[in-house]
Amino acid sequence: MPEIPVITIDGPSGTGKGVLCGYLADRLGWHRLDSGALYRVVAHVALSRGVALENDAELAQIASSLDVSFKQGRGESRVILDGNQDVSGAIRTETCGNTASQAAAHKAVRQALLQLQRQFRQMPGLVADGRDMGTVVFPDAGLKIFLTASPEVRADRRYKQLKDKGNSVNLARLSAEIKERDARDAGRSISPLIPAPDAIVIDTSELNIDEVCSRVAAEVEKVFRLP
Ligand code: C5P
Repeated sequence: MPEIPVITIDGPSGTGKGVLCGYLADRLGWHRLDSGALYRVVAHVALSRGVALENDAELAQIASSLDVSFKQGRGESRVILDGNQDVSGAIRTETCGNTASQAAAHKAVRQALLQLQRQFRQMPGLVADGRDMGTVVFPDAGLKIFLTASPEVRADRRYKQLKDKGNSVNLARLSAEIKERDARDAGRSISPLIPAPDAIVIDTSELNIDEVCSRVAAEVEKVFRLP
């Protein structure tokens, strides 16, 4: 069986992972995995069912029976739960992100999502973004990118993103929540947010998204052929 190529993009929120991942997937004509969306959908289901965030057995049960698909909508990928519920907007709230980060700290939840994530590895290739794509889910990826940026820049980017989507946001509270989420993601014992030893680390604080995309495209070109 020919090996299915993978590019992993990891890093904290607000570094441009999502846009970069979409850009590369489009450019290469490869599949895309937004692994954060899976954790967010687990959180969404848990919140809607009133499941306690300490209840790892119930959370793992939700994760292991998750029916999520990604549909390409107008310019944006839609996240569909159980074949007919469009949860794209619902999972993007800060509450859902924070809940996702708490659910993601449970080993049983991560274990339950592992196979699901690996199923996205299909021909002709996969671009996957998240926190542990290069370290745990696809350790054999041909190219691993880890994006960073200062906490201030990241909070500012998230603020603008949420505002653009019509959400009402408070920058100070958003900054505090992002710091808390990052500390939890980086400090957890299982699959913490750290670059893989063989990842290329890029600080995007001073770069705009087009610059990030061309920087990474140059790295992709060294490993894979870009159309
Ligand atoms: O990337 P996004 O902000 O959508 O991720 C939401 C949360 O899901 C993260 O804060 C993190 O706790 C968790 N996550 C994870 N591993 C991944 C992707 C996301 O733990 N691969």
